[in-house]
Parts: sequence; C-alpha cells; structure tokens
Amino acid sequence: MAPQVKSIEWTDGKLSLLDQTQLPVDVTVEEQTSVEQVWDSIKKLKVRGAPAIGVAGAYGLVVAMRDKTTLDAGAFMDELQRNADYLDSSRPTAVNLSWALKRVVAAARESGAATGGALLDVVRETAEAIHQEDIELCRKIGEYGVPLIQDGMGVLTHCNAGRLATSEYGTATAPMYLAHQNGVRFSVYSDESRPLLQGSRLTAWELKEAGIDVYTITDNMAAFVMQQGLIDLVIVGTDRVAANGDVANKIGTMGVAILAKHFGIPFYVASPFSTIDLATPTGSDIVIEERGEDEVTHFGLRRTAPEGIKVRNPAFDVTPNELVTAIITDRGIIKAPYTENLKKVFG
Ligand code: MRU
Repeated sequence: MAPQVKSIEWTDGKLSLLDQTQLPVDVTVEEQTSVEQVWDSIKKLKVRGAPAIGVAGAYGLVVAMRDKTTLDAGAFMDELQRNADYLDSSRPTAVNLSWALKRVVAAARESGAATGGALLDVVRETAEAIHQEDIELCRKIGEYGVPLIQDGMGVLTHCNAGRLATSEYGTATAPMYLAHQNGVRFSVYSDESRPLLQGSRLTAWELKEAGIDVYTITDNMAAFVMQQGLIDLVIVGTDRVAANGDVANKIGTMGVAILAKHFGIPFYVASPFSTIDLATPTGSDIVIEERGEDEVTHFGLRRTAPEGIKVRNPAFDVTPNELVTAIITDRGIIKAPYTENLKKVFG
C-alpha cells in the first residue's frame, strides 16, 4: 500500500495540509504560506475535524509570526494575540481550535522570552508539542476503546473522526485501527454525513485504504441497518464535550444516538482531553456553526433545491448526555454521572 498521506505535515518549518475537499478523487497537498491561507483552509474544511484544526491553528501562528522576529517582545505578543483571535474566528464549534491557540499564546507569555526571535521559538515548540501529543492521545483512546470491538461485530460511525481529522489514528477510528491490527474481524458502517459527505468521502476512504471492511450508507439508512441487527456498537467523535457530558458532533449524530437507544445499541463517543470543555456547562451553551446555503441546495455543482428556497445549515448538533453510553478518552472510559466524573478526571 502507498504510504498514507497525512492531514497535516510540518517539515523543515513548512506547513502543508491535505486538501480534504478533494478526497476521495484527488489527493492534493497544499503548502500554507500565509495566516490568511490557513484561516481559509480551516473555514473551507480543507483541514477539518476538531483535533486537526487545533493543530493547524497552532502552526498557523508560526506561519503568522515567522517574519515578525524583529519586533520587541511586547509588540510580538500583541501581534500573536491578534493572529490567534483571527484564526479562532474561522470556526466556532470545535473547542480544540481555541484551546490550541490559547495554549500557544499562554506558553509564549509565560516563557519570559525577551525577544521576538526567542518568542517565535516558543510558539513553534508549542505547536510541535500539540501535534505530537495529538498522536499520543489518539493512540491512548484506541487502547481504551479496543476491547469494545469483538469478532463479528458491526460498528456504525458518523462523519469522520478518523486519522484525517487528527494527526494520526483518529479518535472514533482509533479502536477500529487497533482491533484490525489485532486480527479482529468486524465491519464498519460509515454514515455518508450530509451535506459535506465526510463519512463517505473520508471515513470510508481511509478505512478502506487501511484494509478494514467498510460499507458506506446514506444517513437515512442507519435505522434500517440497526433494525436488521447489523449494528452492535456506535462510536462517533466529538467537537466539544460540555461539563455535563452533552456532546457536540457533526449534524445527524443526535439522530444516530436516538436510534441507538431505540434499538438498544451502545453509543460511545471518543474524545481526547483537548475536546473536553469544562468551562462550557451544558450543550446549549455550545455555539453551533451555521454554514452557507449552497452546501444544502446543491449536490456537488448541481442544484437540488429550488432557487430562492429558505435554508438552514447547522453543521453540528448536540447529543444529550443521557443518550451517551460512555466517553472513551485518553485517560480511560468515562461513564455517567458525567458532571462528577468528567470533573474528577479532567478538572
Ligand atoms: O465539519 P467537520 O468535518 O470539521 O466535523 C468533524 C466532526 O464532526 C468530527 O466528528 C469531530 O470533529 C471529531 S474529529 C476527531
């Protein structure tokens, strides 16, 4: 098999992003030469998935600041904060983006570095640390989640919480990759995930590339395959877990959770600590991104709804905590009561 292309590459001080909007037809990697380009890549979902946009945002600060080393420390910090705010404005729902940007700015502020050059070193080292850590977090999620996948199972997932959405392994897919490595035989049902088809374009693509048995289904087939007894387990990713265990994820996830409850199928959410936001009390406090109309009125380039039709396009929904069987984290599997248990582990 060809070496797997990564969502984010950082080589010799250059940031390159796989343009995920072109998958599965074209594999295109774009070097990012300005902070505006990084903002646009996040906004347009060239790079997407909560952990990946956190890592891309952190490197975006290196791209923004690398020609600012002649600034004195005060001016450098002002400019760093301005760029962090700018990058943060690209997408609101996944907490990983603001988490990573805040972490880079705080590291620079607390470093005591006295020149622009020394501050840039801290910015770069922190971005690299976030990138490396993300790989480790996903591996841990895989280790905690792998016993859930047994021989003969059908596992349903929604959207893409795979290696394309992270630095490696993915979150929801990490237990799948590990189970596959261990020789467990199972099938994945990957919801297409309208409107942008992250499930069929990305999850089905990456799992197939890895040799995992995968079916792609349209979102409205999930109930039927569950009723047919084909699904034993649901694992999805998340963009933000609120302090009470409510979970934001790709639009349609809540519907899957309701179906899973109806059919008595366990519904797991995979989340690194960087996606857990104890500062957000409940799911209703999470800002849900609304995206452009064209994503709904068109299928590819072809119009599929009348001209002038009114459109809603929320990109995420919030699954209430009572529908979540457990959250697979890098620090173990967390069960209800979520307010207490999340605080105990991540507080
Ligand atoms: O709009 P996207 O493609 O960025 O949405 C991605 C998701 O909803 C993922 O499930 C989530 O970010 C978790 S990725 C590990």
